[in-house]
Amino acid sequence: MKKIFFITTPIFYPNANLHLGHAYTSTVCDVMARYHRIAGDETYFLTGSDENTEKVVRAARAAGKDAGTYLDEININFKNLFSKLGISYDQFIRTTDERSHWPGVVEMWKRIAAQGDLEKRSYKGLYCVGHEAFITEKELIGGKCPDHNESPQILEEENYFFKLSKYTGAIKEKIESGELKVVPESRRNEILALLERGLEDVSFSRPADKVSVGIPVPGDPSQKIYVWADALTNYISALGFGRKDDALYKKFWDNPDAETIHVIGKDILRFHAAIWPGMLLSAGLPLPKTILVHGFITSGGKKMSKTLGNIIDPLELINEYGGEAVRYYLARHISLFEDGDITHESFKEAYNGNLANGLGNLVSRTLKMAATNDVEITDEIKIKTAKEKSAGDMHKRQEQALKNFDIKEAVDVVWNYVSLTDEFIQKEAPFKKLKTNKESALENMGLLLGRLEIIAAALQPFMPNTAKEIQRLIKENKMPEKPLFPRKD
Ligand code: MSP
Repeated sequence: MKKIFFITTPIFYPNANLHLGHAYTSTVCDVMARYHRIAGDETYFLTGSDENTEKVVRAARAAGKDAGTYLDEININFKNLFSKLGISYDQFIRTTDERSHWPGVVEMWKRIAAQGDLEKRSYKGLYCVGHEAFITEKELIGGKCPDHNESPQILEEENYFFKLSKYTGAIKEKIESGELKVVPESRRNEILALLERGLEDVSFSRPADKVSVGIPVPGDPSQKIYVWADALTNYISALGFGRKDDALYKKFWDNPDAETIHVIGKDILRFHAAIWPGMLLSAGLPLPKTILVHGFITSGGKKMSKTLGNIIDPLELINEYGGEAVRYYLARHISLFEDGDITHESFKEAYNGNLANGLGNLVSRTLKMAATNDVEITDEIKIKTAKEKSAGDMHKRQEQALKNFDIKEAVDVVWNYVSLTDEFIQKEAPFKKLKTNKESALENMGLLLGRLEIIAAALQPFMPNTAKEIQRLIKENKMPEKPLFPRKD
């Protein structure tokens, strides 16, 4: 049965260009979105940028630009990267967009306020600008925030607090019952342990005179809505929640049949699996169905950082190897459920071994044999190849893997099939056989074309352009004009 499928990336902070970690989140979502579209599901893929933050103000100042110009420029960079990576989003939301985003946030605030869940309190604490959050003494190392290497500021101010603590039990119940799935299991356990300890109320606004950006609190212009309450609401404001034109919201969110899934990195689990469900429960709105949590991408076993000089720029990799190769690496060589590593060396090795040699070679060999011997693909060949056990097994395993969000396994099975096909060429040696048993040789070549067609179809969600190119070459019965993946030395 056709499904309704809504998938989101987190909205990215535009205080710097996107790095490979962000490219990873986006690629995972794109693979899932493409897979569902191919299956015929009605699919909506949302991404965007998280702009109402002091980080942006600081970055713009450092670049000597006004915030508006700075944001417009960096959004172009984001979209440029997405285009090179083939990220097929349906909407890119910007939280500074007063028409599409703000009405949803205002409506969300009003609903939570109507429940009596927002309360003005005086708050004194240590505030980390990098985190955009108050942090505790315990988290500091040498008096500094370990993530941002900055000393926190002591702040005392009036904030509206969201009574999140009140929803601890209800959120726990939703996760335990599976109504809200947190995948993988280890992250589910992590959030359940947090809920077991009890959630604290969270600051939801800041004094308007202390921040330069943000959406004014409805009915109290002395306060501005704080970044997380603003940012999380993007997932529904983008669909029209709080606006008259809310058809997308009704279809993709407020619909028991819609499969809704947020893909996030492990650092923002608490926001998504505690604060966001708390907000939605308070506002009387449906929860997402699944939160899929991935690990971090490291380089040489270490977190990528400017100081270590080990940041890998996705654009650099794309310029050298192409967007499809980057998608390939992220999908297959990083495991979604754990931290994954990448270095320039590991990338090149995977590229040469599996793309230049593995897939690229198979494509060239097969199409060369077919073109020189005028072997064309026919419906009969297609049916015969699809009936082979190896093809059936691959499809089944791929489908199961994607159901479990195991993208790595879903690509691994294609390469297993590539290897089987290589072995078939080795064993049958159709090119040599032409002289001794032409009929069998031509039959082998046909079967190889059929298998290549199956490989192309199975690659579609992961490497859409490569899949299209292989399909074109088969159809036109041509050898690639140049190797699909030229070897790199
Ligand atoms: N703006 C917030 C999200 C708000 S969503 C309502 C934010 N932005 S971010 O730009 O800092 O991060 C966006 C995503 O990138 C997060 O899911 C984060 O986990 C992910 N990653 C950031 N660094 C990463 C790696 N090194 N590896 C993998 N993903 C990483 O958080």
